Amino acid sequence: MKRKNVFVAFVFFVVQNKKSNNMNEPVKLKRAYGRRVFGRRMGRPMHKGRVDVIDTILPVRKIPKEVLTEDKSLSVADMFGELVTTLHFEIGFGNGEHLLYIMTENPTHHFIGAEPYLNGMSAFLKSLPSPTPENVRVHMDDALMVLNSLPDASVDFLYILNPDPWPKSRHHKRRIVNEANLKVYARVLKDGGTMVQTTDVDELAEWMLTKTINCPHFEWCAEKPEDWKTAPNGWMATRYENKGKEAGRSQTYLIYKRKST
Ligand SMILES: C[S@@+](CC[C@H](N)C(=O)[O-])C[C@H]1O[C@@H](n2cnc3c(N)ncnc32)[C@H](O)[C@@H]1O
Repeated sequence: MKRKNVFVAFVFFVVQNKKSNNMNEPVKLKRAYGRRVFGRRMGRPMHKGRVDVIDTILPVRKIPKEVLTEDKSLSVADMFGELVTTLHFEIGFGNGEHLLYIMTENPTHHFIGAEPYLNGMSAFLKSLPSPTPENVRVHMDDALMVLNSLPDASVDFLYILNPDPWPKSRHHKRRIVNEANLKVYARVLKDGGTMVQTTDVDELAEWMLTKTINCPHFEWCAEKPEDWKTAPNGWMATRYENKGKEAGRSQTYLIYKRKST
């Protein structure tokens, strides 16, 4: 199918689904923390085991604040203390199920995960095998702080899975896929690198796709509707994704390649 027809089919699919699929409930904004994080930072009080990993594993696996200079100078090899051939970056990993899965599948690769939500961070750290893998670093704040610190063309895979939908029009500027951020994603991705975006909110899918294909650095990989309607081979659905499916929402998988410069 021609690229333009694929896009038209996608928009048609979104419109068809609008009647049956309610958008996610708006995330309640109690307070805007930091510069670019608008969601919640903490949830329910955690069990001792979940607090312990924040006290013990986080300090040794977090990216030190001093190197987050946002001037593209953060050396990935220095950060991991070894040569890095393939780097995966997950923005907003939630409880980290997907991040843990890709770590398990690719033990020789390196991984950075950013998640400002304390309970999510602790769930991920608690799920890590012991001894704690050397090939992962985390950041409990805005992902852009790390991305802006990374050099050009340093990331092979970038994942933005089920980002907060911010359904109200006046909150759309909070969406993590936007024109300004796409330039950052394009800068840090290597030529031919992969960006994966997923959502079960049709309006957000349309938004992310439109913004991304209008960014000259990305090429959408879909050739037929099945490519965005069905999970890629070897896909691991998070609890969040499964809950959406149980509620009758359909997941959209948008995969792009970073064009060569
Ligand atoms: C709806 S949840 C999805 C979690 C996970 N990706 C999944 O699919 O299960 C969106 C996540 O993005 C995180 N988030 C929001 N703004 C962020 C930012 N600026 N940098 C990194 N993560 C962010 C939130 O804390 C939240 O955990």
